[in-house]
Amino acid sequence: MFEVKNLHVSIGETRKLRDINLNVKPGELHVIMGPNGSGKTTLAMALIGHPRYKIDTGKIILNGEDITGIPMHERTRKGLFLSFQHPVEIDSLRYLTFLLEALKKNGKSPDVEWIKRVFEKMGLSEEFLQRNVNSGFSGGEKKRAELAQMLLLSPKYAILDEPDTGVDVDSMKFIAGAINESLSRGTGIILITHYARILNEIGKGFHVHILAGGEIKAEGGPELAEKVEKQGFGE
Ligand SMILES: Nc1ncnc2c1ncn2[C@@H]1O[C@H](COP(=O)(O)OP(=O)(O)OP(=O)(O)O)[C@@H](O)[C@H]1O
Ligand SMILES: [Mg+2]
Repeated sequence: MFEVKNLHVSIGETRKLRDINLNVKPGELHVIMGPNGSGKTTLAMALIGHPRYKIDTGKIILNGEDITGIPMHERTRKGLFLSFQHPVEIDSLRYLTFLLEALKKNGKSPDVEWIKRVFEKMGLSEEFLQRNVNSGFSGGEKKRAELAQMLLLSPKYAILDEPDTGVDVDSMKFIAGAINESLSRGTGIILITHYARILNEIGKGFHVHILAGGEIKAEGGPELAEKVEKQGFGE
């Protein structure tokens, strides 16, 4: 289980998140929705261990182990994965080299043919593997490549920060497909999104948490996501 307990997070001197609690079991999908600036990316970054996001109190527990204080690369090795809202471009590193290294570091066997197949499944030709990481990729291509990484690494728990923002209808299907496949393999997923559209493509039930002003204000099932889509976050 991936547990977030009474988490309070600051950036600099400013408290951005208060008393966040989440319990994600293997194969479960937890959706986080909330207005712009409500702290969703802050939560994602704090969970993966980005040093700018300071955990003031609370705990992050992965399968019984307290990982609150350990560095980002160790969290990754323990099976936590983050797909970024804004994937970075690395102009000096070939995507294939990056993936082979990432797989090796995470104890997976680096198999180029398998990587090609997974990229193809995400609608990305082999050519993307020969390009530098995200370099000149379109918005939708970047997001699909992030989700290809998730399929390759098969993490225990994945945090996806707006994988469906700015993507076209076909890309959305690829992304929803990757989420469904990971869930069925037992990955627990925290999905940050603004749209119920992607949730209509999810083949199973899910939990919804509404984050506003740095706090979880409401929790429920799929009906809560529909309500947000229809009525927004207002009362
Ligand atoms: N490095 C920083 N320094 C100061 N304030 C920051 C920093 N990073 C984020 N913030 C602020 O923290 C708040 C939460 O930002 P965050 O990126 O978590 O929002 P979000 O819910 O992901 O929004 P969006 O839906 O637009 O992606 C915002 O008011 C933002 O301006
Ligand atoms: Mg964000």
